[in-house]
Order: sequence, then C-alpha cells, then structure tokens
Amino acid sequence: MLSEKTIEIIKSTVPVLKIHGMEITKMFYKNMLEENPELKNMFDMSKQANGEQPKALAMTILAAAQNIENLGALAPALPKIVSKHVSLGVKPEEYPIVGKYLLLAIKEVLGDAATDEIINAWGEAYGVIANIFIELEKKAYEELEANKN
Ligand code: HEM
Repeated sequence: MLSEKTIEIIKSTVPVLKIHGMEITKMFYKNMLEENPELKNMFDMSKQANGEQPKALAMTILAAAQNIENLGALAPALPKIVSKHVSLGVKPEEYPIVGKYLLLAIKEVLGDAATDEIINAWGEAYGVIANIFIELEKKAYEELEANKN
C-alpha cells in the first residue's frame, strides 16, 4: 500500500512529467539500451532509429501513476501489453532494470526539483505497477506451459 503522502507526490509530479514525455522516453531507452545491450534484441531497433519508437512503455507508466489510487482503470490496457510482453519473453527480473532507467530519466527531467522524497515515491509507485504486470505475466506463462502438454 502506498501512503497518502506518496500518492500526493506522484499526482503532483505526473503533469510536469507528461509534458516532458518525449524527453523521458528518449532518455529512458538510450540509457537502458546503452548499458544493457542484450535488451536491444527485444526492442525494435528500427523504430528506435527513425524516431518512431512508441512512447507506449514510459507513457503507460505515467498514465498508470496518475491513476495510482484506482489501478483498475488500467485493466482494459493490460491484456494487449501482457501478451506483447509474453510473446517477447519479458522476465520478472527485467522489471527493476526498466524501473531504474525510468527513475533516472524522471530525475534528469525534474532536475533540481527531483528531491529524494519524489524519487522514492516514484520508485514505490513503479513497484506497485510492475507487480501487476509480473503477476499477470506469470499466469500467462503458466497457461502457455500447461497448454503445451
Ligand atoms: C511496468 C512496466 C512496464 C510497462 C507499463 C510496459 C508497457 C508497455 C507497453 C504499453 C508496450 C506497447 C505494447 C503494444 O505494442 O501494444 C510495451 C511493449 C514492450 N515492452 Fe513493456 N512495459 C513494462 C515493462 C517492460 C519490461 C520490464 C520489459 C523488458 C525489458 C519490457 C519490454 C517491452 C518490449 C520489448 C516491448 C515491445 C516494444 C518494441 O517492439 O519496441 N517492458 N510495454
């Protein structure tokens, strides 16, 4: 459970982060793929190169954070993302990697305004959102495995 304070911090920072959505997305992918080149196989590099890389991943996290008190609002978007992830073989241990680079990008964009309190709040919120995906993907992988036999 996130504290009232954390929720308040998240909600007050989402609007400014959304304004800088493109910048966050670019920084996020650039740093993550530079430092984790093995992930390049998963992400569509042609989309990266010509600037069409979907903002979907980072923007979905911002949208989810905006609805952090009512994550049920995210439900309609989940099956498509989960099946994309499962088709690509996204693993639970990759979530902290995405979280790390998302937080770094948020920190960078907020600059001096990025207090420890803000960054910690985002770390917590990301954890809650990531766990939803991890759980759903675990179930999807189990179903795939069960259907094999
Ligand atoms: C809470 C965390 C995450 C959210 C909200 C999220 C969200 C999304 C969304 C919205 C899409 C687009 C789906 C579509 O094409 O319909 C996507 C695609 C994708 N996601 Fe995630 N994702 C998360 C975590 C991860 C993690 C941990 C990985 C593994 C490193 C990952 C790898 C990918 C890849 C490879 C694609 C396909 C994008 C492409 O082809 O360039 N995602 N994700």
